[in-house]
Amino acid sequence: MADTGFVRVADISEIPPGEMKAVKVGIQEVLLVNVDGVIHACDNWCNHQRYRLSAGDVDGEEVRCDLHGSKFNVVTGEATNPPATEPMKIFEVRLDGSDVLIRP
Ligand code: FES
Repeated sequence: MADTGFVRVADISEIPPGEMKAVKVGIQEVLLVNVDGVIHACDNWCNHQRYRLSAGDVDGEEVRCDLHGSKFNVVTGEATNPPATEPMKIFEVRLDGSDVLIRP
């Protein structure tokens, strides 16, 4: 089978709608977020002052950093609330049955 670069990181049952889960792919920490049944993936580290977004909360497409309140759209990566201004890295996601795969 051809190497697509996708890596299994979770079972979809581990991330109910409206919730998030941090996973590791090598040294990369990735935040999986279930937005209305669709899994999205982004860097787990806030790019303002490097704090784990998994310690914050999620509201629809937005995750909020608990340290200074920056918000990011997990679908586009856009910073939607300061102090962060730079977009965050997002990852391509695929489902294979109940397996959640990302391309790191
Ligand atoms: S570290 Fe996330 S808002 Fe400052």
